[in-house]
Amino acid sequence: MRYDDVSDQLDEILVTEEQLRARIAELARQIERDCDGQDLLLVGVLKGAVMVMSDLSRALTIPLTMDWMAVSSYGHGTTSSGVVRILKDLDTDIAGRHVLLVEDIIDTGLTLSWLRDNLISRGASSVKIFAALRKPEAVKVNIVADYLGFDIPNKFVVGYGLDFAENYRHLRDVAVLSPRVYAESE
Ligand code: PRP
Repeated sequence: MRYDDVSDQLDEILVTEEQLRARIAELARQIERDCDGQDLLLVGVLKGAVMVMSDLSRALTIPLTMDWMAVSSYGHGTTSSGVVRILKDLDTDIAGRHVLLVEDIIDTGLTLSWLRDNLISRGASSVKIFAALRKPEAVKVNIVADYLGFDIPNKFVVGYGLDFAENYRHLRDVAVLSPRVYAESE
């Protein structure tokens, strides 16, 4: 494993940097075909989507702009309330725009489901979803990713933007966090 200092905290690599790069390149070609000359607005959801936004935007060769939202989910994983609070809103008026929401992961799907409805209500011409990862066993709401990188098992994963207590986001691959790490912090 390439992470000398944290390798004892990771159980296995699930998706490598190379697999992510190759899949994002494929999906970028698909997005370019689907856009068919329309300008695109990429909306990244802080903080997890920073890595995938960076890679996807640079893989695309069509005109595009980028904006960011930060949201906080209440009752995440436990009560499934699906209530989301906006911590940082878009700087862009998205009325009439073609929006691609860019996320690192669909876990329960509650965040993206809420965000998609919110952006549609602002008058966007279209709102599509790009997710680098999805946990099919964890999904609680019907949310279809227009562009999906990889389905992964329902395990605690870190890296490529995903964190545990703000750590590990910078790892280049997606890895399973050893349960020892979160047991120690309890
Ligand atoms: C993660 C991830 C998604 C959301 C997915 O964000 O980046 O936004 O959870 O989970 P869901 O499908 O169950 O709604 P988190 O709230 O951990 O914030 P972060 O991006 O700042 O890490």
